[in-house]
Amino acid sequence: MSIVCLLIVLLLSTVSSSSEAQQDTSSSVCFVVRTYWAHGEDYGDRSLHDLINSMKAQTLGRWDAYMVVLDDRPFPDLQKVISRHNDDRIWIFAEWAKAIYKPKDKGIWSPKYHQHLYQLTDEAVRACPPSTEWVVITNGDNTYDSKFVEEILSTPDEYDVVALDFYSRYQRPTAPPCTRFAASEDDSMPKCKSNELRFCQVDLAAVAWRWKRLVEEDRRFGNLDRRSDSQAADGMMATAVIYAGWKVRFVHNRCLVHHNPNPQLCALHGGVWDDSLLINPSTFGGRCITKQSAEYLLRTTPGLELVSMNLSYDRNAFGYEHLESLPETCLRTADPATWRNAFTFGRVCAARIDFVDLPHDLPSHPWDSWLPEDLKHVKTLGGHATSASEL
Ligand SMILES: *[C@@H]1O[C@H](CO)[C@@H](O)[C@H](O)[C@H]1NC(C)=O
Repeated sequence: MSIVCLLIVLLLSTVSSSSEAQQDTSSSVCFVVRTYWAHGEDYGDRSLHDLINSMKAQTLGRWDAYMVVLDDRPFPDLQKVISRHNDDRIWIFAEWAKAIYKPKDKGIWSPKYHQHLYQLTDEAVRACPPSTEWVVITNGDNTYDSKFVEEILSTPDEYDVVALDFYSRYQRPTAPPCTRFAASEDDSMPKCKSNELRFCQVDLAAVAWRWKRLVEEDRRFGNLDRRSDSQAADGMMATAVIYAGWKVRFVHNRCLVHHNPNPQLCALHGGVWDDSLLINPSTFGGRCITKQSAEYLLRTTPGLELVSMNLSYDRNAFGYEHLESLPETCLRTADPATWRNAFTFGRVCAARIDFVDLPHDLPSHPWDSWLPEDLKHVKTLGGHATSASEL
């Protein structure tokens, strides 16, 4: 009898300790937020304020946020924005304003800007508090659904990285302009961009990395791409950790992250989505413009048309359950012969649902065989060739 009791006590204690491990109340999410003056109040669009509000609205408040500024202009109202929120989870990690950190010159990214920003980001990651379990690197103009932190902290112990779907201007980039964002009556279309945790199919803001492992393995975004301009460092890190055996948890078909700009937010703010530019790298994902700008473009640029459509969205996040639909007006070139999306982005960027519609004569794209520099030799070892094609 007493042995049976002892067994039950032992069983109960193992059950309770394993559920405690899953819901460790001291673990937290550390956000590293890259921001600059244009996210502020005095000279910017107040987007940093929206991001902080979305963090403060989390159902689980176990997070910290470290602000990082690297720019040629200071961010004079950063202190003001942060002190107004009066929240001791928010820190300014670094504000480096110097002429050599100029992000863009005549609209073109400065060659070393992203690498410098990632190097500073890597330092901020290492400054996260000891309670950190997950680190999320984001930008000052993104926003998160109130269940984001809860979703990340519910991840079982065996996973090392969490990849969540996200709103993005690169949603289905190879599909026709404008309609690539459309909702489908039968729900067969993705609600937002699917996060595949690989080049062109990932967004840093929608990934949570297991902090201890990232730091212990000394993985640094600033080291990944010294030859090029580090713009693809998120995809490189994703591929690098998968090759290193990190276990990925995908959160598909829920959209808990807004990467700005995107047509869904543009619609909610009364703007028109301009999907007419697929050539200029800074705009080829599209942009949000005012109704007046859209009318002006329509009058002055031959060959454009306006399309009325309902956008795809996730009813169960960001309080969108009350929306019956998400109508948007979208600008594009009218002649389908001018739609070069598949050629601009290549196979590697196509959403799964669009594979069948890729042109049969689509030539291979420089990005298709993309692999980080230091993994190229691994691919040729043979053993990894299969895992490379599965990625
Ligand atoms: C958008 O959805 C609404 C409500 O379901 C519907 O009445 C309308 O016709 C749709 N618009 C388009 C362009 O499909």
